[in-house]
Amino acid sequence: MSSGIESILTETRVFPPFPNLVQGAAISGMDEYRALCQEAEQSPDEFWGRLARENLAWTTPFKQVLDESEAPFYRWFGDGEMNVSANCLDKHLDTPTANKTALIFESDDGKVSTVTYKQLHARVCQFANGLKSLGHRTGERAIIYMPMSIEAVVAMQACARLGIIHSVVFGGFSSKSLHERTVDVGATLVITADEQVRGGKSIPLKSAVDEALAMGGCDAVAHVIVYKRTGGAVQWQEGRDLWMDELSAGQPDVCEPVPLNAEHPLFILYTSGSTGKPKGVQHATAGFLLWALLTVKWTFDAKDSDVFWCTADVGWVTGHTYITYGPLAAGLTQVVFEGVPTYPNVGRFWEMIQRHKVTVFYTAPTAIRSLTKAAESAPDYHPREYDLGSLRIIGSVGEPINPEAWMWYYTNVGRERCPVLDTWWQTETGAHMITPLPGVTPLKPGSCTLPLPGIAAAIVDEAGEPVESGKGGFLVVQRPWPAMIRTIWGDPERFKKSYFPPELKGAYLAGDGAQRDADGYFWIMGRIDDVLNVSGHRLGTMEVESALVAHELVAEAAVVGRPDATTGEAVVAFVVLKRSLPEGAEADQIAKQLRDWVSKEIGPIAKPKDIRFGENLPKTRSGKIMRRLLRVVAKGETVTQDVSTLENPAILDQLSQAR
Ligand code: PRX
Repeated sequence: MSSGIESILTETRVFPPFPNLVQGAAISGMDEYRALCQEAEQSPDEFWGRLARENLAWTTPFKQVLDESEAPFYRWFGDGEMNVSANCLDKHLDTPTANKTALIFESDDGKVSTVTYKQLHARVCQFANGLKSLGHRTGERAIIYMPMSIEAVVAMQACARLGIIHSVVFGGFSSKSLHERTVDVGATLVITADEQVRGGKSIPLKSAVDEALAMGGCDAVAHVIVYKRTGGAVQWQEGRDLWMDELSAGQPDVCEPVPLNAEHPLFILYTSGSTGKPKGVQHATAGFLLWALLTVKWTFDAKDSDVFWCTADVGWVTGHTYITYGPLAAGLTQVVFEGVPTYPNVGRFWEMIQRHKVTVFYTAPTAIRSLTKAAESAPDYHPREYDLGSLRIIGSVGEPINPEAWMWYYTNVGRERCPVLDTWWQTETGAHMITPLPGVTPLKPGSCTLPLPGIAAAIVDEAGEPVESGKGGFLVVQRPWPAMIRTIWGDPERFKKSYFPPELKGAYLAGDGAQRDADGYFWIMGRIDDVLNVSGHRLGTMEVESALVAHELVAEAAVVGRPDATTGEAVVAFVVLKRSLPEGAEADQIAKQLRDWVSKEIGPIAKPKDIRFGENLPKTRSGKIMRRLLRVVAKGETVTQDVSTLENPAILDQLSQAR
């Protein structure tokens, strides 16, 4: 749980909605919100059916809204056909939106380029035609391993246009993680770049793809398509490797979108669970897009004049829903940023909001917390030094936002005239689930407030029984919703086991602990499983443990989270080596070696912040590692719990004093 939990529990401030945002809002006022919630509750099929007809363009209209016959493998709009890319691009072509700027791209070094909807459509069509010319077809899987760029959006949209199921791998993941995902999806195609540029540094991507493909089991990969970002040197395999611009050049700028069944998988996105192996979360075509679009309209109260900026990377679900799909389906102008918030200085975000006159800004608590700290020590780059008057809404996503960070964001960035939308959702939920609405919801710092209409969120105990307000429990969703995860790619049993345990009577188990207050507001308390949230990135403790024990020096490892003022949680690893206990400089050197190893095995985000060596780990007599105690040791606190059941209680002292 994050460091903000204690302050969350004592928070009492309330901020009513701003009248100027209530008027004309997509959902305006509590009565309208309640009426929608009621409609959804009383006749869910009519509610979702109406929204799907009103908001999506269908090539074959659906007759059945929800098919529950194979629950929990729900099917939405399952006899209808449509195409996501057509719903994001083609639908604007005969409207004034065609000539509106779709994407404003700003590179790491500050160069700005833009595309209109018409131009983006043409580029997507040309690339899709290029893929077709290579023989790639509906139903194949493509790995996308690209930097933030217009090209990344083009690649994803082109796949969606052809019904090629994409699986985007965040550019910060290692070749090993990339390999694992390439094999798991059975990719026939990899789309990448020569290099990515972040914070003034070039980082190779193509060479990581080469390494991944050389690890074996990737024979199905027929082509590697490379976006030339920097022109840096790359190895080339003739026949397999192609430049993205050369593939698109000369292709017709019209490519018929393939009509796809509503349930056709749109994408697979890997996320961490409580075992060592990441889960390939599979999303469907129509249901995902419907909710991506509706939440852009409802949560962000999208206006035609908006300049929308979601700072996430397309390698995460937030970038899928709130960059590549939702805002385009809504016809918004959006900012796409290649770099990092601290380069060339810590005022980068604020400067970009000023430069592009951003109206809706959506970022992560980690960024807010680190920029808060940075702004205090570098007052020239404090947000107050910039004109942020264009902003009307500011949002937060990915981890609990503690009330202190919320207030800083509200005061310094939103200037006390923009609501802070603390949006709770997950890779599995596809889009927002519990969130304030600008025209409806009184805000309480640290609470994600109320569920969206149609989302039956609740808090229950182990037996699936409702928990009274003020008491903690499991956050569940008691009715299916269109954007929900359909399955775990290749592992339907794990899907059922992870999300629909029998004792919860058919409810979806989110994996978060939460409680509600007397007003029905939700307060998220953190994960209930072995999943950590480091800088808003999900990490399985088992994943990091498996990486550590794969190192030749390591006999055993246990990984826990520790509250961290900037990153929310930090990874702490307790390690038993095969050799004698190292000390001093030698311990430092081995710790560094292990940190680099984890970075290579998973990616830099998984690097343990703290590695403690011990001769053993605290275990029960039956051999179970007592992580509960390790969490206490990791925090630097004294263990006060009963340790009499431990095989080796003395080990706790050793680990507490370890480096
Ligand atoms: O623990 C919750 C936390 O992030 C988890 C989902 O992570 P991921 O699938 O990577 O998706 C992140 C982007 C949607 C959740 O189980 N989380 C996400 N948003 C919030 C949050 N915790 C508290 N408040 C939030 N607003």
